[in-house]
Amino acid sequence: MILNSGRVVFATSGAIISLTCVSGRPNFVFVLTDDQDVHMNSLDYMPEVQEHLIAKGAMFDKHFCTVALCCPSRVNLWTGQLSHNTNVTNVQPPWGGYPKFIQNGYNEKHLALWMQQSGYNTFYGGKLFNGYTIHNYDSPHMSGYTESAFFLEPYTYQYFNLSYTRNGREPINLVGNYSTDVLSQLTQEFLDRAFSEPESPFFITVAPIAPHGWLNQWPRGARSGPPRPAPRHRHLFQDYIIPRRENFNPEQPSSVNWIANLDRLNETVIAYNDEYQRLRLRSLMAVDEMVGEIVRRLEDQGVIDNTYIIFSTDNGFHISQHRLHPGKMCGLETDINVPMVIRGPGIEAGSTRSNPSSHSDLAPTIMQLAGNDISDKAFDGSPMDLGLPDDDNYRAPGRSEHVAVEFWGSAIGESIYAKKFGGNRVYPNNTYKGLRIEADDYAFYYSVWCNNAKELYDMKNDPGQMRNLLSPSRVDSDFTLFGQNLKGVVDRLDSLLMVLKSCKEETCQDPWRALHPDGETRSLRDALSSKFNTFYTDQPKVEFEACAPGHILETEGPTKFNVFGVDEGDGNESDEDGTGVYRLDGILISVAFVTFLVLNHL
Ligand SMILES: *[C@@H]1O[C@H](CO)[C@@H](O)[C@H](O)[C@H]1NC(C)=O
Ligand SMILES: *[C@@H]1O[C@H](CO)[C@@H](O)[C@H](O)[C@H]1NC(C)=O
Ligand SMILES: *[C@@H]1O[C@H](CO)[C@@H](O)[C@H](O)[C@H]1NC(C)=O
Ligand SMILES: *[C@@H]1O[C@H](CO)[C@@H](O)[C@H](O)[C@H]1NC(C)=O
Ligand SMILES: *[C@@H]1O[C@H](CO)[C@@H](O)[C@H](O)[C@H]1NC(C)=O
Repeated sequence: MILNSGRVVFATSGAIISLTCVSGRPNFVFVLTDDQDVHMNSLDYMPEVQEHLIAKGAMFDKHFCTVALCCPSRVNLWTGQLSHNTNVTNVQPPWGGYPKFIQNGYNEKHLALWMQQSGYNTFYGGKLFNGYTIHNYDSPHMSGYTESAFFLEPYTYQYFNLSYTRNGREPINLVGNYSTDVLSQLTQEFLDRAFSEPESPFFITVAPIAPHGWLNQWPRGARSGPPRPAPRHRHLFQDYIIPRRENFNPEQPSSVNWIANLDRLNETVIAYNDEYQRLRLRSLMAVDEMVGEIVRRLEDQGVIDNTYIIFSTDNGFHISQHRLHPGKMCGLETDINVPMVIRGPGIEAGSTRSNPSSHSDLAPTIMQLAGNDISDKAFDGSPMDLGLPDDDNYRAPGRSEHVAVEFWGSAIGESIYAKKFGGNRVYPNNTYKGLRIEADDYAFYYSVWCNNAKELYDMKNDPGQMRNLLSPSRVDSDFTLFGQNLKGVVDRLDSLLMVLKSCKEETCQDPWRALHPDGETRSLRDALSSKFNTFYTDQPKVEFEACAPGHILETEGPTKFNVFGVDEGDGNESDEDGTGVYRLDGILISVAFVTFLVLNHL
């Protein structure tokens, strides 16, 4: 088969408009780390990232992954679709991994491929997805890359025992070389090749393993431990300890389900966990050096001012917060709020932007910055608000405040002290749907688990998520928001979650419009108006039938919701002939259609 068919595709795809202004199109370098936190301050220990990206670009401090696990999150990132739409929900078949990405047709529809078709030179180095192995790397090849060096399992997480396929060729195994240094070397080669073809802009992704834990023989018979830094960084950060915030190994348990049942960590485990995080920070130093190298090359070539550099990670990480052993996969802020820094043309240096955004938004953002049409793509996200001056080429919708969060399956404790099955403690029934709302004057995390335990945190007053407002043991009669009591607020949040948990495209981008097609209710604050009390009281509630390891619709309870203006306030929450209650099937119910139905009702 012909690899690297980028130019052929380019020639035949008729991207004539793009061709005429190729030289003006920006380049992209996307640095994607693995499991990096923001809440233990890892970015503070990366001087090159600080100097070249954060001080010269914007920090998006309310950026979230939508699913806190590597493979599903990366698929979300590269397709712009939520996991309940890609149905790549875990790291291995049948629920996820590279084979599931292929099986569900995404090798024909992902960001790099579209970028390549529009004339970009595309490169990828490092970890792509879980389940991409020395056995299946060519069945089929990953599409969309002019050049590539994909790390392959079972070597991906070994740091000093790396296997990768260069441009789809037979895997190379390197024992003794440090994986991030090899990646840095390969990236310089990519860049030199890209510079030699100045007629094509480039889109490069560099995806090092750090600071992911070390794993041998993944996925079977795995032994695991903290990451392994390069020898030159082993002595660093001796004095670092994880910030002792309110949620650090708290006296009272927090959250619900298996998290609420965790024992408090003892001094031995706390010391191990602090060292675990030191090793993560040390492993990030080679990444930091690589970022410095990349920036210097871009400067030397005089292309830095026409290049967007994006720095992020697939999902966050917790260590000792909420009594948790090292790991991810939770809906808690430590796991879903991730580093996101963007430097590039038009982005204000040293700025912080706090409009919420998520990994669903990256593909549409990059496509639009590249001057590509996004109207024909099935994106669940929208272009991010980058603070760019108003421009025909880049259009971000107005401020939105919601992020959809979801997870299926088990959670894993990645520590010798979480030992149980095969070296890792597995916490089953970690299936939940959540939503994060972030506005100027209110912020919440609301979640419903597969056993119907519910969590609600007031993120303005309880950023450490220590006080679940829905805890049965909690009598909280004081809570009010814009004149609504707790129940009134939860009714709105639950309806929003009902929309988001099975949304598609427009209904993900603008979920309030699915509930209020007149377009006048655009935020939680608007929805809290007392004129909607009956409407929200009568809404079907998010409720699971069972805990499933994957996206099995029948276990996920109701998906129908009432639409305001059609059947509000009549107390009939179920209209079985289907004229009043809609199954959300991806098409935003048009105002005209609703009007038609209203007229029909009359
Ligand atoms: C691996 O390490 C050896 C010895 O330091 C070095 O000569 C070689 O260039 C490295 N290979 C790669 C691909 O980085
Ligand atoms: C490298 O990884 C492979 C696959 O997991 C394993 O079989 C081999 O023993 C490892 N070699 C070294 C030197 O660690
Ligand atoms: C601390 O907790 C770990 C994990 O439960 C246990 O293995 C260890 O024995 C405990 N150490 C002490 C000193 O109690
Ligand atoms: C997990 O959920 C399943 C199905 O809902 C249930 O049968 C099982 O008891 C739960 N297990 C635990 C450990 O909670
Ligand atoms: C998602 O994939 C799983 C595993 O193949 C399958 O059982 C499930 O029905 C799929 N879910 C949907 C909604 O298609």
